Order: sequence, then C-alpha cells, then structure tokens
Amino acid sequence: MITTLEKKTSASMPPTSSITLKVNGATKQMEVEPWTTLLDALREHLDLTGTKKGCDHGQCGACTVLVDGKRINSCMTLAIMKDGAEVVTIEGLAKGDALHALQQAFVEHDAFQCGYCTPGQICSAVGLLSEGKAKTADDIRELMSGNLCRCGAYSNIVAAIQQAMGTATGAGEGRAKR
Ligand code: FES
Ligand code: FES
Repeated sequence: MITTLEKKTSASMPPTSSITLKVNGATKQMEVEPWTTLLDALREHLDLTGTKKGCDHGQCGACTVLVDGKRINSCMTLAIMKDGAEVVTIEGLAKGDALHALQQAFVEHDAFQCGYCTPGQICSAVGLLSEGKAKTADDIRELMSGNLCRCGAYSNIVAAIQQAMGTATGAGEGRAKR
C-alpha cells in the first residue's frame, strides 16, 4: 500500500535532472536520476567503461577518477553533486598516441596482471603526484592504500609510481610490504 508520505515524495521528486560535466575535455550534458552515481553516469551514460566498478561501496578504489583535479571514488559520489565539474578518467590521460607518464611506467614495470584495478590505480596515482605529499615508497604505499589489487601487483605499482615521480631508487625500494 502506498502511504501519503510516499505519494508526496514521489510526486515532488523529479525523475531525472539535467547535468553538465566536462569529461576528458569535452562538455557532456546528460539526464540522470537523483541516485545515479558518477561512476554509473560515466559508464552507462557516456560509455566510458575504463573506470571500473569493483565493490561499489568505496572500499576498493577501482572507480577512482579525477574531479576538478582531485582523486575520488566515483561510486560514492552522486553525479548530480558534480554538475559543472571537470572530470578526467583513464580514457583522458593519454595525449593521442603518447601515453601519460604513469601509463608508460605501469607498462614498463609490468604493474598489472588482470588489469581490473589498473585504471583506478593510475588515476589515483595521478592525484597522488599532484598532491605532492608522497616522497618515499612507504608514502606511496600509505597514500595509495585506498586502491586494492586482488592480483597483488603492489610492488610493481609502487615502482611504476616512483618512476613517474622521478624518484626510482632501485629494485628493492619499490617492494611493497603487503
Ligand atoms: S567501486 Fe568504488 S571504491 Fe570500489
Ligand atoms: S591487476 Fe588484477 S586486481 Fe590489480
């Protein structure tokens, strides 16, 4: 049975809202439901499926993208909250055929196995570098701890990030502790 409150709520809630995002340099307008996450907006509305859905609960980092230059879990963010924001996904990092320095470093260090976590790892690492807080391998491990890798490629991920930071100090330094 539908209660009066439910009737009022459904009558007052707009089914969709129009939002505009600047995604990878292109302006995109879309109609989203109030509960549509940024992750689903990217994947389902814009077909940008490079950003992955892992846990969908803010615990794995597979969905990490950059919003106004900051890394966030897109599964924990409503698209409507980011109306007007600038979003960069894994698809927006390369410049033509030239890979982003972090993408290149991940390839050179074999920093992935199945690759499912990789877009989130790379976007998170882009955010990490721009934050400028990481100085050592331990810093990288700590500040990348929100990005899980089921394949356990952590040591190579740290080494790749160190290379991109320009601070690679040899094979032993990049070894992860977890
Ligand atoms: S899918 Fe977003 S944190 Fe896991
Ligand atoms: S490479 Fe498989 S989950 Fe990270």
